[in-house]
Amino acid sequence: MKGILLHGGSGTRLRPLTYSDVKQLLPIAGKPISEYALENLISLGIKDINIVVGNVGADEVIDYYGDGKKWNVNITYTHQEKPLGIANAILLAKEFVGNDDFIVYLGDNFLQNGINYLYEKYIKSKYDGMLALVKVRNPSQFGIAEINGEKITRLVEKPKEPKSDLAIVGVYFLKPLIFDIISKLKPSDRGEYEITEAYQIVINKGYNVGYSIVSGWFKDTGTVDDFLECNRLVLDSLKYDTEELQEKNISGKTHISDNTIISKDSRILGPCYIGNNTKIENSYIGPFTSVGSNCIIKNAEIENSIVMDKTIIDFSDKFYIRESLIGSNVEIKTGNNNSKSMRLILGRDSKLEMR
Ligand code: DAU
Repeated sequence: MKGILLHGGSGTRLRPLTYSDVKQLLPIAGKPISEYALENLISLGIKDINIVVGNVGADEVIDYYGDGKKWNVNITYTHQEKPLGIANAILLAKEFVGNDDFIVYLGDNFLQNGINYLYEKYIKSKYDGMLALVKVRNPSQFGIAEINGEKITRLVEKPKEPKSDLAIVGVYFLKPLIFDIISKLKPSDRGEYEITEAYQIVINKGYNVGYSIVSGWFKDTGTVDDFLECNRLVLDSLKYDTEELQEKNISGKTHISDNTIISKDSRILGPCYIGNNTKIENSYIGPFTSVGSNCIIKNAEIENSIVMDKTIIDFSDKFYIRESLIGSNVEIKTGNNNSKSMRLILGRDSKLEMR
């Protein structure tokens, strides 16, 4: 079994962050979202993993994951010049796959309970392919599966009038027979080679394609709100051993990394994560907040937000930030003002000054 981890696509719904950053490397609790997916693949015993990189930030992905030694696996890379769809990305990795079975994991998907139980069903059932499905409230934003008992009857990509609320999750169990089918696909109305359509053809040809229902929560982190919700869910479910840290000003489930300084006049209320070498002064870091490494935060009250590495938030007077996604290397400084609340969605190298 081999693994493919997708890092391409255009990430339009996470702009401006994705003009400069790879969306799959954006952090949740101090770690790229795609690293959780990588760990899921590794937990199955998979040793050979190919990462498909796109036209934004390919070097950053390669820098971060390298040859995989850090995770004790072999990581290789495939370049997808244009975001021509998930099926196109898979076809480009054909040589890597060879004759093996493989799993394709979308690098921006997060499954609370991992994928081991899905894998076990796939192996036991001897399917020719399998989809992971989950009930959603907004089915028209996903690929949708209509089922009858154990059979998938129809698959539709982002239907306007969905006939089912079972969304296709971004973990695809496949065999090399898919390559011939993908190579004959035509681009869809949105100009992409759709993996949903390829699966439909596999079913039409009479192959035994199964499905498995995902347990626990699932998040496609394609939008700011979904990304923040995933951060909330991950922070809430991580078990931090913070007993020795519980002081008057630090409480709840918190992870505070090495060399981080929290001044006595600050208050940290978990669940939250604070990275390495960060300074927090006269501030309140409230529930469901992840702060990256090498940040400086002064006179701020932050809740329900992500602040990425090397960002400076320096307020002259207490200022409240909530539900914000703040990129790396951002500087936010205030002069005197009366307003006490704001919402920020800022990309790398942004500077916001209020006077
Ligand atoms: O999240 C699950 C959904 O993912 C499925 O329900 C849909 O059937 C499937 O089409 C996909 O829909 P999205 O609209 O969310 O796809 P998106 O364009 O966001 O891309 C999903 C991932 O695949 C993302 O990590 C980027 C990567 N990708 C995407 C494209 C279009 C590539 O690596 N190359 C590409 O060309």
